[in-house]
Amino acid sequence: MSAARELHARMSLMSEFAPKSMSASTPTAPPMLVTRELVKTYRMAQQEVQALKGVNIEILTGQMVAIMGPSGSGKSTLMTLLGCLDTPSAGGLELDGVDVSRASEVELSHIRNRKVGFVFQSFHLLPDLTALENVALPLFYARRPKAERQAKAQAALEKVGLGQRVHHRPLELSGGQQQRVSIARALVNEPALLLADEPTGALDTRTSYEIMRLLQELNAQGSTLVIITHEPDIARCCQRIIILRDGLIESDQLNEPWIPEIPPEEDA
Ligand SMILES: Nc1ncnc2c1ncn2[C@@H]1O[C@H](COP(=O)(O)OP(=O)(O)OP(=O)(O)O)[C@@H](O)[C@H]1O
Ligand SMILES: [Mg+2]
Repeated sequence: MSAARELHARMSLMSEFAPKSMSASTPTAPPMLVTRELVKTYRMAQQEVQALKGVNIEILTGQMVAIMGPSGSGKSTLMTLLGCLDTPSAGGLELDGVDVSRASEVELSHIRNRKVGFVFQSFHLLPDLTALENVALPLFYARRPKAERQAKAQAALEKVGLGQRVHHRPLELSGGQQQRVSIARALVNEPALLLADEPTGALDTRTSYEIMRLLQELNAQGSTLVIITHEPDIARCCQRIIILRDGLIESDQLNEPWIPEIPPEEDA
């Protein structure tokens, strides 16, 4: 993903949005995301890459979905479209009932800012800011008053189990704690949809499972989650597993979520 897109993603968590308290994946839940024959073609000087070749997905409000597939199969491309960071070359895309497939850049950024929270493999925290300041940043960009920024950032950090680490800077935190800070930042505006591109890719097994337990808790509280992963045990934590191959859906199956057990610490 380009630096500009990542910046957009970072800035995306800027505004108020009421949380959805829909129970997970009930058949009556309205769709959060619908794609119809979604196509994305990247054009470079001499070459055209068809990263997505006609993808049809419907993700219900409250679902927790894993997207898997080999490197280059189009997972991150799909995430940039679902998160309104980019527009499709063809096909339809609805987010929370709104057709975003032909939205302008300005409309897209508005929708993205209101509705989507992003989590990345490498956290994207600003090293000179404390955990509290990092989490409050989207509210700062949204020009919310200081007292509100602090209260909401504190609440988001407590939600991810870091209420006792709010004044630590990223380098004073473990990898798992840094990812918790980035999840708190993604949540601080209560987005309708949380998109995570390999959120456990930089973490050891134990910490990965802790992060998945946290994401499962957030899902149980009503968040809709789409998680890209290469790891089968991470995918198994989700209610549905979609596998992409060569820009198309190879399989799309419901799954009884596995609740990971956190192994004991070796040096404890
Ligand atoms: N900005 C871009 N410009 C040109 N081609 C791109 C761009 N982004 C992705 N691609 C190409 O689109 C295809 C899909 O890439 P994508 O990043 O979506 O794959 P991925 O499934 O996320 O892979 P990985 O598991 O390695 O992260 C690849 O062939 C890639 O080279
Ligand atoms: Mg990728």
